[in-house]
This record gives sequence, C-alpha cells and structure tokens, in this order.
Amino acid sequence: MNTPSSIPVTFSVTKVRADFPILTQSVNGKPLVYFDSGATAQKPKQVIDAIHAYYSSYNANIHRGVHHLSQVASAAYENARKKVQKHLNAADENEIIFTAGTTASVNLIAEAFLRSRLNPGDEVVITGMEHHSNILPWQQLCHEKNATLKVVSVNDDGSLDMNHFASLLNSKVKLVSCTHVSNTLGTINPVKEITSAAHAMGIPVFIDGAQAVPHMKADVQEIGCDFYAFSGHKVYGPTGIGVCYVKQSRYSEMSTWQTGGGTIKTVTFEKTEYVDGPLKYEAGTPNIEGAIGLGYALDYINAIGMEVIAAHEQELLVYTTQRLHEFENVEIIGNAEHKAGVISFNVKGVHPFDVGTILDQQGIAVRTGHHCTQPLMQRYNVPGTVRVSFGVYNTKDDSDRLIAALEKAIKMLS
Ligand code: ALA
Repeated sequence: MNTPSSIPVTFSVTKVRADFPILTQSVNGKPLVYFDSGATAQKPKQVIDAIHAYYSSYNANIHRGVHHLSQVASAAYENARKKVQKHLNAADENEIIFTAGTTASVNLIAEAFLRSRLNPGDEVVITGMEHHSNILPWQQLCHEKNATLKVVSVNDDGSLDMNHFASLLNSKVKLVSCTHVSNTLGTINPVKEITSAAHAMGIPVFIDGAQAVPHMKADVQEIGCDFYAFSGHKVYGPTGIGVCYVKQSRYSEMSTWQTGGGTIKTVTFEKTEYVDGPLKYEAGTPNIEGAIGLGYALDYINAIGMEVIAAHEQELLVYTTQRLHEFENVEIIGNAEHKAGVISFNVKGVHPFDVGTILDQQGIAVRTGHHCTQPLMQRYNVPGTVRVSFGVYNTKDDSDRLIAALEKAIKMLS
C-alpha cells in the first residue's frame, strides 16, 4: 500500500463535509456513513448550485443560437471542456469529447475507432480486473469480427501479472484496454508502463479512468495513452455525463458514429460534411447541465488539491485496512502494493449481502455483490464481496463506525 504523503493543516474534512448536504441525514436512525463513492460520489452544494443556476438563469440550447442565453450556455459548456482538458492535462481542449459516461466512452472507441481496424484473427488485450463496461464492447466486437479477446492474469494480491501482459503483445493486437484503478480491488495499475509497452509494438491504448480520476491526479500526457475515459458522477459531478479523451493524432483514424444535429458542417440529401474534433461525436442536444456541473465538480476537487485528496484517502485506506485485520474471519480481497481508496472484503462463511444488510441497518452504506466484475469474482472464487469505497468526505470516525457495525454483524451472522 502507498504511504500517505502529508495532509496540509489547511485541509479540514469537517469543512468538506459541510459542503455535502446529503451527509447530514440519518439512515435507519443512525447518522449516515457513506462508503459507496465507488458506485457514485455525493455532490457538493457548489455542483448542485451550479446546476440550479443553469436552469434558473441561462438554460438554452448550445451552439445553435445567436441569442443571449444560447451564447451564455454555449460558453459555459465549452468552458467546462477547458476545465476537463486542464484537469487531465490534455494538450488541447479538442481532445475532450463529452459522453454520457465511461461506458459510453468505451462504446464510442469500440465503434468509431476499433471496428474498422479489427479483422478476423486479430486480438484485443484487456485485463482480468476490468469492469463489465470495459469488457463487453470489446467482447462483442471480437465475436462479430472473429477476433480474440485476450485477458491479462491477475496475481493473488490483486496486481496485474505484467509478465503475462508482455507475453500477450504481438502484431495481431489492435488495442490494449486497461483500467487505471480497479473498482473492486482498488489496485492502481501501472498504466504508463502498460502504454509504453503497447506503443513500442504500435498498439493503441485505452485507459478506463472511472475509478482513478476521483482519487488521484490523472495526467494523460504523462501516461501517454491514446484514449482515456471517466464519469462525472463518480467525481462529485452529475450523472449522465462523462468524458472520452482522444489524442489529437487519433481523430483522423476515427469514423463517424451516432451522427445527428451539431455534428455537421453542411448537409445535402446526397452528402454530409462533418465537423472535425469533439462535436462530431456529440450528436444531438448534449447534457449541458451535466457538463457544466462536471466543470464545477472539477473546480471543487482542484480547490482542495488532488494530492491532498489522495493523501487523505490513503490515510483512510491504511487505517481501515489495519482495523479490518483485527477480525480473524475477515479476508481482504486485493492487497496490491499500490491501491486507491477501495477495500473489498468478505466475512468467512457469510454471504456479502447479509453483511451489507446488517451494515445498512446501522446507517452504513457499502456496495455488496460482484461490482460488475463477475470474471474477477470467478478468479477469486467468491460470489461477491463487501466493498468500502472512500470519498474526500470520509473520516476515521466513519471507519470506526464500520468496524463497530461489522463486529455486530459478525456476532449476528456467524
Ligand atoms: N461502476 C460502479 C461501481 O463500481 C457502479 O460500483
């Protein structure tokens, strides 16, 4: 596990919590402990207010009107794109496509980039710890094209078997797609190393950053990947908005997909000329308030600082892991050296749903089940896990509450 770097004294989790109205409520008569940010993060009032302001003062369609409100809304939408560019350290704002979320981004690249390049006998390399969203679009395309999906093995500790990865690279591979951080294990994958190895063989790389962007600095130029995706709702922004970063040089290799209003330069019944860049992939009226809200969410986390958030969550990760080790019958699944704020565990002999239900009765929200990673569950031979995932608003007190509630659950269920 990473050693937490120091958290500046100016960081106050109490102050942060005051920004999240939802956290003040009680659930089942107990103050809410929200440990399910991996599924969706709560929203600070800065994001909620920004969406309210959009609808109450400048709601209009974008890129389609000369009137004042349309101009203001268009500027706000494009400003959100710049905020994403800056956040990911993309070289150009045109490298940022707004999508409905990470799943939509994977599908976009499968259809607009990979489809035309994948031929019978080709291969796509993913890893054994991918979310279903980063399996199914590739799997579907491979089935259709008589290509083969190859899967990098996961070591017992939850890290990737990098020797196996290296052995899978060859001239038949048309794409490598890998999660930056595992939503189930918390493993932080060496995406820079993965990208360089693939690029050395001329293979493009897609990185699923859905579980990384909320927890750490994700720098697409440093990673060097061709595509990088994340979702707004996991990073304290709204649902239904996400991002697909496309390296500028890859646009010319992408075909049109989901065409429609906003994607064109000129249309006649015989022929259509499309715009270049992100608007080509944002057909129809986009999720305007989603993009604006996402921009405010990124402002929010950047005002705290990604290093500060990472250090705070590492401290919680180390502390909670240590406390879970106090239980003889609790097994943590995923013990890689580099982990983000996610802990999956099981109580021996007890179904994770039962643990989750008893935790919920005590006001503690965790996710239970397969976490949309069924092949990974098969890898560890478990039906599911209990997953604790941290956000910037969690505290050691939350972890203590979890431990006390778990003690009760174990007494009741064992
Ligand atoms: N992908 C989300 C999760 O890991 C929903 O919970």
